Amino acid sequence: MFRKSALRYVLAAAGLLGMAALPAIAAPPIGGWIFDGGPDFPGFTRLQVHKDHGRYTGTVTSHWYGDLKMDDVRVDADSLVFHLFNGNPRVPETDIVLKGDGKSVRMTGKLWYADFDIPARAATKSALKALDFPVYPLPPHRIVQPLARAETPPMGWNSWNKFATDIDDRTVREIADAMASSGLRDAGYVYVNIDDGWQGMRDKTGALRPNAKFPDMKALADYVHARGLKLGIYSSPGPKSCAGYEGSYGHVEQDAKTFADWGIDYLKYDLCSGEALYHTPETVYAVYQQMAEAIAATKRPMIFSLCEYGRFDVGAWGRDVGGSLWRTTGDIEDKYETMAKIGFEKNGVPNHTGPGGWNDPDMLEIGNGGMTTDEYRTHMSLWAMMAAPLILGNDVRHMTPDTLALLTNREVIAIDQDKAGIQGLPAKKDGAREIWTKRLSDGSTAVGLFNRGDDATSLTVTWADLGLKAAKVRDVWSKSDLAPATTQTVTVPRHGAVLLRVTP
Ligand code: GLA
Repeated sequence: MFRKSALRYVLAAAGLLGMAALPAIAAPPIGGWIFDGGPDFPGFTRLQVHKDHGRYTGTVTSHWYGDLKMDDVRVDADSLVFHLFNGNPRVPETDIVLKGDGKSVRMTGKLWYADFDIPARAATKSALKALDFPVYPLPPHRIVQPLARAETPPMGWNSWNKFATDIDDRTVREIADAMASSGLRDAGYVYVNIDDGWQGMRDKTGALRPNAKFPDMKALADYVHARGLKLGIYSSPGPKSCAGYEGSYGHVEQDAKTFADWGIDYLKYDLCSGEALYHTPETVYAVYQQMAEAIAATKRPMIFSLCEYGRFDVGAWGRDVGGSLWRTTGDIEDKYETMAKIGFEKNGVPNHTGPGGWNDPDMLEIGNGGMTTDEYRTHMSLWAMMAAPLILGNDVRHMTPDTLALLTNREVIAIDQDKAGIQGLPAKKDGAREIWTKRLSDGSTAVGLFNRGDDATSLTVTWADLGLKAAKVRDVWSKSDLAPATTQTVTVPRHGAVLLRVTP
């Protein structure tokens, strides 16, 4: 360390020798600064650094996450190096460097997927105070009795997988029309759910308005209802939705009321930016409880869909916060590998699922073009075996006959919707071959024969090995009965599935 007296000596010596004075040695910055620019995500607003007993602490405030604490702070010459945690461990934290020149500072690094290298200017106490991020109390722990109950896994459609934020009133109306005319509605798909991207700004009273693509939500709900369908919507307990739209943070009761007034029947509540503010089991429980209570207070039954990516063993408490379904995974993609990873390996704790509350391995991708028909048949078969919610994610206005057949096979849907609500499980695994079973309420058993391998394979089942009597064996995809036999051999295509219903 350079001691002050030594520094004075060097400067004096330099002066005596007629040399230019050495630059003052800058110290790591302490104080408060305001960002004027920077990336929209995460919308940094201010920076505050303190030094107490030689230790540096601080916060960086953002529109998305509120106050983020500087973690693992260390001094590196004239800079501070630290980490910020946005509540999501998926992207590893990397060093963020803060360097000052006395008047301003510069913060360089990466948060989540956003790189930044942005200046901040010194600010007065009152200017910093004006950027205080509001913090709201959470309710004490309670169990919520929802008005809506999903006796069987919810079925419907959602805009996200196909349209992402490119969704509007007209498309939703056309989807509703197609749900009715294609037979999807009559096969059981009744919810038409608008995902992220419908939100506009709040009005003077704080009420959340839709954006210009949704001129009249109530009229849209009426339109959907008139077709024998129900309307779902999407929000977040955080300040921002995952796509950066307005979340329900600080407006939970008001938003629930707005949704009820519009005639909404289903709410997907996605943790999103709230993951930075709520990253303990207690706080995540509390924010879902808070919205469930707000919905209950409206007296309008709404299916409550929890989307917090399966954290904190959500299935163990999803029902207690009024949830009818809860995501057990991160996002699905229209790729065999992602779908298979979720469907075969991340289907939640089986005991959590059943009438009233369902493990949700995410929405369907069938019909979006990224998988073969056999792979999509595996997708549908796995979801049916798991008793998963069947929320379509394709453009149902334009479907191939294969897609429609995969989505509307009544015998497959009956396995998914069986009233016992038992989650099927693997009974045997042999390399790429898996045999799954699911007990059904009429005493029969659904049996899924899966081939995760890259080549077609033959799979032999001896019913007694599975503890089953098989007086009747029906292939539900081909809708044909197999000749009765104690042992059955079927050929299963690459990445494919055969789904049987075995009756004693
Ligand atoms: C998250 C959810 C998705 C979708 C998007 C919308 O990633 O898991 O299902 O709702 O947000 O931004």
